[in-house]
Amino acid sequence: MPTTSRKVSLTGIKPTGEPHLGNYVGAIRPALALAQSYESTYFIADYHALTTIREPKTLQHYTRSVAASWLAAGLDPEVTTFYRQSDVPEVFELAWVLSCLTAKGLMNRAHAYKAARDANREAGKDEDAGINMGLYNYPVLMAVDILINESDVVPVGRDQVQHVEVAADIAGSFNHVYSRGYRFKIPEAIVPEAEVAQTLPGLDGRKMSKSYDNTIPLFAPQKVLKKLIQRIPTDSTPVDAPKDPDSSLVFELLVPFAPADVVASTRKELEAGQLGWGQLKDRLFHVLDEQLAPMRERYEALMDHDSELDDLLAAGAERARKRTTRVLQQVRDEIGI
Ligand code: TRP
Repeated sequence: MPTTSRKVSLTGIKPTGEPHLGNYVGAIRPALALAQSYESTYFIADYHALTTIREPKTLQHYTRSVAASWLAAGLDPEVTTFYRQSDVPEVFELAWVLSCLTAKGLMNRAHAYKAARDANREAGKDEDAGINMGLYNYPVLMAVDILINESDVVPVGRDQVQHVEVAADIAGSFNHVYSRGYRFKIPEAIVPEAEVAQTLPGLDGRKMSKSYDNTIPLFAPQKVLKKLIQRIPTDSTPVDAPKDPDSSLVFELLVPFAPADVVASTRKELEAGQLGWGQLKDRLFHVLDEQLAPMRERYEALMDHDSELDDLLAAGAERARKRTTRVLQQVRDEIGI
């Protein structure tokens, strides 16, 4: 059991798609490693997903799929508090409180809103066309997730760093206005090294991302995994000609998954012209399948309708609420409600 003196690491996962290999390398694996040295709280940000997902079944499916993926990948719900955002109602009460302390100008500058507005301008449309208040207020809700869990560090991708800075700003405003009693901790973003060093390429060579439709799903069935690997483009260098590993997408995908000695010998074989692209693809498939097969099995079991998944999440929410109800009560006392 975590002790309360340890620093708190928190992250939210927006369920807007089935996790892919890029998510695993860039977010899931590093966050699970961090859970070893922090008191960790990870949650499924289903209400954040509502800013874009309007199909109830889809939202439910992605929520379960993301939760099952993290558990299958090794999240231990005994060690890490793991819950669904919508199961913790204190979040939504605090969201109103903190929105009353958030400068509108700060939200105008938040990059997700700004990007949507700029795109509208460029297209000659009304600048707020298609933008809902959920997208606009997104950073406030995220600040609440962070602050209500008294987080010290927030592992996120680079694109979310600004949101953590907004959370720190909002905490500062609250602490400044209400300076007598409860004080929010000022959180700090940490970007996992894996995210900085190696953005996993997708099937077309661009960053692996759902929005480019170039992903390899983390728990694709074996056959699908094999087929997708076959689809990765290679050049026409003959089997026995020397090849440059660093310009090969297949090799790039192998690196984060294969043991160091396998990576080193594969590099040598490619450079020496001892390995054809087809053989390299077979190797990638075997490396991935060996690692993913046991997790895939666990994933599939958890995705079963009567699996323990929902109970696990409910227990996580109960545990999270010990803290969130206390924090909310202290905030209420502070603001005069
Ligand atoms: N905004 C994050 C994303 O899009 C998800 C998220 C919601 C989050 N609340 C959070 C991340 C709190 C870190 C902390 O990925």
